Amino acid sequence: MNKLLSQLPADLAPEKLPQHIAIIMDGNGRWATQQGLPRIAGHRQGAKTLKELLRCCKDWGIKVLTAYAFSTENWRRPTEEVDFLMLLFEKLIHRELAQMHREGVKISFIGDLSPLPKSLQQKMQHSMLETANNQAIEFNVAVNYGGRQEITQACRHIAELVQRGELNPELINENLITQNLYTTSIPEPDLLIRTSGEMRLSNFLLWQMAYTEIYFTDTFWPEFDRSAFHQALLHYQKRNRRFGSINLTLSA
Ligand code: FPP
Repeated sequence: MNKLLSQLPADLAPEKLPQHIAIIMDGNGRWATQQGLPRIAGHRQGAKTLKELLRCCKDWGIKVLTAYAFSTENWRRPTEEVDFLMLLFEKLIHRELAQMHREGVKISFIGDLSPLPKSLQQKMQHSMLETANNQAIEFNVAVNYGGRQEITQACRHIAELVQRGELNPELINENLITQNLYTTSIPEPDLLIRTSGEMRLSNFLLWQMAYTEIYFTDTFWPEFDRSAFHQALLHYQKRNRRFGSINLTLSA
């Protein structure tokens, strides 16, 4: 990598960088169709883009990246595409794990992993265990993830504690709900980026993104490169995050 590209661009203030970035990688299929390729080629290219973005976040000092790889609704896609994605996840873990580990990436998979192919589940568990103590960057991949499903399972777990007499309902507060989400130990995202011109949350991190800044771009995910990411960060640094209060600046 060219030394200049690996450094934080001079017009970005390091103290105002988002700590945690969430991404909805949209537009793989449309990008592929535009190139005269099958949709799956878009996912393959999208995976390369994600790898590049992860490296860029690490180079530029961003501590957490969370990517929406497969939603609870994505099972509705044609079987061949779902099968392809499952196989792609598995191949990517197999191919990239050693290098990510060397680079200090801590990997977590969030979502209901239980309906995924067993061999994929095993690779996911193995990659999480192997990288659990790494500290360069946290990389969370949401697979079979749905924000409503996540909040529902948290409620169910809390209700069970109450039913068993282990929890007083008066002690149920926002903190307790947060602790029962898949993202327990992950800070809330500061910035969400969604590509391809779609302007929706699509059931992603609904609880966690109450105060997240949102950036939409028309660029299709496979073309979201360092310079597109740079633009997103420039926009973010111009925002005035108030968290419901008045006049708090990003650096506050
Ligand atoms: C959305 O584009 C993309 C997906 C549903 C799949 C994203 C998955 C990857 C890029 C692979 C990542 C792999 C790992 C292990 C993290 P779309 O198909 O909805 O595009 P369209 O809106 O143009 O149809």
